Amino acid sequence: MLGETKVSFSGVQPSGNLTIGNYLGAIRNFSLYSEAYKCFYCVVDSHAITVRQVPAELRRRTYETLALYIACGLDPQKNTLYVQSHVHEHTELAWILNCFTMFGELSRMTQFKDKSTKHADNINAGLFTYPVLMASDILLYQTDVVPIGIDQKQHVELCRNIADRFNQIYPGTFTMPEPIIAKDGKKIMSLAEPTKKMSKSDENANAVVYILDDKDTIIRKFKRAVTDSDTCVRFAEGKDGINNLMSIYSCFTQKTYEEIEREFEGRGYGDFKLAVGEACAAALEPIQKEYAKLLADKAYLEQVMAKGAEEASYVARRTLGKVKKKLGFVIPSSHT
Ligand code: TRP
Repeated sequence: MLGETKVSFSGVQPSGNLTIGNYLGAIRNFSLYSEAYKCFYCVVDSHAITVRQVPAELRRRTYETLALYIACGLDPQKNTLYVQSHVHEHTELAWILNCFTMFGELSRMTQFKDKSTKHADNINAGLFTYPVLMASDILLYQTDVVPIGIDQKQHVELCRNIADRFNQIYPGTFTMPEPIIAKDGKKIMSLAEPTKKMSKSDENANAVVYILDDKDTIIRKFKRAVTDSDTCVRFAEGKDGINNLMSIYSCFTQKTYEEIEREFEGRGYGDFKLAVGEACAAALEPIQKEYAKLLADKAYLEQVMAKGAEEASYVARRTLGKVKKKLGFVIPSSHT
């Protein structure tokens, strides 16, 4: 907490194209806090380099992710939108927190286990300590809430353990953050294998709907979505494909499952899939238009990230200074 105001913090990696899962599970919820909270939303480029990146692509995606934040409804006047590497306190605090994080804790992180299987030729130390950098992101801003998709819950729990361990030794240093996971849309599944999470790195292009897919592509992907041999649109155990489509439809239309079941009573899966595709395309259209406009104005995006970095640095500097003092580091006299 910063004085009287509660703080919301989250981050998105500028790697890969964002999916409707990222949108519904996380980004869409960031704006819920814009009015009552002080909000920091970061493009986490330092996290992205834990797997190899093509420099030109990383640079392009950093602008794109920032543009997408704004296009998804985050007003840069009301939210601090910035790039992680522009605020060096993130990596500096991460080193300190490394010394308060246990090897065993990091070994239990499921994302580390998954990523080290996927990138078996590059299991670097950064991949291992990734959650410590994430804890540093969150704790630097005295964050109260962290809106995230369910896959990041374990990392926020680790962050709480680190904060608690630090606070036990140096009381009153960090605010304890709460993960906030969207009730609906917390786990959007693959359209091809609906028992698996929709993932931006899926090799099957039909499994994933990207925020920037055009209408025809969206409708085609939903038409091909895997369902079941039943013919009735209803939410039930074992109907993973239909359950997932109902959940997506509900997120985009605000209709309840009962309303959806009534709407499609006596109608086939074909009709339903088309309706889901159309609802999704209609919801994404204004975002895509705004995104295209923003990306054409690089100078504006640079202005937003510069203002964001300045605001973020101000807070980050204060927390890091407090941490260093508590640890017993000598503060150079020019800094007091
Ligand atoms: N690890 C998150 C992801 O891959 C991104 C992230 C980095 C983040 N730092 C964060 C999310 C801090 C929330 C808070 O999705």
